[in-house]
Amino acid sequence: MLAGTLPAIVPRTLNHADDACQHGQRMDFLKLIEQKRDGGELSPEAIADAVTAFADGSVPDYQMAAFLMAVQFQGMTLAETRALTLAMRDSGAVLEFPDDDRPIVDKHSTGGVGDKVSLPLAPLLACLGYRVPMISGRGLGITGGTLDKLESIPGFTTQLSAEQFVGQVQDIGVALGGQTAEIAPADKALYALRDVTGTVPSVPLITASILSKKLAENLDALVMDVKFGAAAFMRTRDDARALAKSIVNLATECGVQTTALLTDMDTPIGRAAGNWLEVKESIACLEGDGPADLKELVIACAAQLPGCDTERAAAELASGRPREKFNELLAAQGADLAAFETKLKQDTTAPVVREFPASGKGYLATCDARVIGEVVRDLGGGRQTKEAKIQPDVGLDQMLKPGEAIDRPLCRIHARTEADADMAAERLAGAFDITDEKTGPFEPYL
Ligand code: URA
Repeated sequence: MLAGTLPAIVPRTLNHADDACQHGQRMDFLKLIEQKRDGGELSPEAIADAVTAFADGSVPDYQMAAFLMAVQFQGMTLAETRALTLAMRDSGAVLEFPDDDRPIVDKHSTGGVGDKVSLPLAPLLACLGYRVPMISGRGLGITGGTLDKLESIPGFTTQLSAEQFVGQVQDIGVALGGQTAEIAPADKALYALRDVTGTVPSVPLITASILSKKLAENLDALVMDVKFGAAAFMRTRDDARALAKSIVNLATECGVQTTALLTDMDTPIGRAAGNWLEVKESIACLEGDGPADLKELVIACAAQLPGCDTERAAAELASGRPREKFNELLAAQGADLAAFETKLKQDTTAPVVREFPASGKGYLATCDARVIGEVVRDLGGGRQTKEAKIQPDVGLDQMLKPGEAIDRPLCRIHARTEADADMAAERLAGAFDITDEKTGPFEPYL
């Protein structure tokens, strides 16, 4: 099932006399770092060798960290970004799907708080006649991860081999799994290093990280949801636009029809943040219920794909078929459906649940996604260290949205202990701001 040869995307060759190495020979990594530090442009061969050397362990973390920091400050040209992306993709396998009329598509978000869009969207796209090989990530910093959310479902496994992954996509149209050692392993190693060296918010590094995985899925089309705001890597709309352009241009050049939405991440998506609480909200969305902003974003993402539009996506979501497809997906990936349905019927599953009252009357102006993300992470819904174990049932729900009248508690806190709930309550006071203004949820780009 794995491609022996890779799609024909041939990096443009630059002839740099001063390359840090002759392609294929042992490289002088220090020279590469210095070239990038001083603003030089690296050849595709030098970049490919650097990725290979790092992936096989011959470049130590401290040198790669210095290189990443040089990229963070100096940036990369399109040719360099392309070479980095392709080298990272080629550190693993490219999925190969049998010929089929169904286009192979995916959606990727740059990361948000309460961002559960992939959960309703993946089965919706399968019902719309696409094949959806969705390789997702874990929570990172304050942003949640699709894999952590799915693993709050009893029995569900995200560990699929590439062969199982392709087989399931062919059979039921959708698979949701993690990045295995087979898919872009260089990205996994580089990402872990970036996460602890302050080198995440770099346009070329994010572009290469995301597209190495997406190109390994062998996609026909991709929709990107690029976040900006308080809880996003890209704080401003302009930075998010630059990232969107970088990803759209490179993916398009590599043969993947790609568009991007720029969406606000000042406010959490929906009313719930926390792994299981977000699964519940996703099911509500699939059952024609749930928050309007979540539904709107799910439909907007689907409508960006070739052959789809808003009306078609909305009608399919309302049909109930994607809800059934979700259960089909769960069963295919080992979930205990009876336990899942029982858990869904429970109002709360965390040991301590508490309402968080408002301090005054009026309208909610802002709900700070950064504070909400930090609180959910510190309740145990995310990780402070790589080894930390996720608590599936903690988080916040019933959050009021900006613009709504304050006629009930601002949210509910779901915690493991009373002390954790106290910690959350204390910090949540700084998350909600009571005035009159309202922010729009998102705006299409391209
Ligand atoms: N998501 C990724 O997969 N990589 C990044 O660098 C940022 C977000």
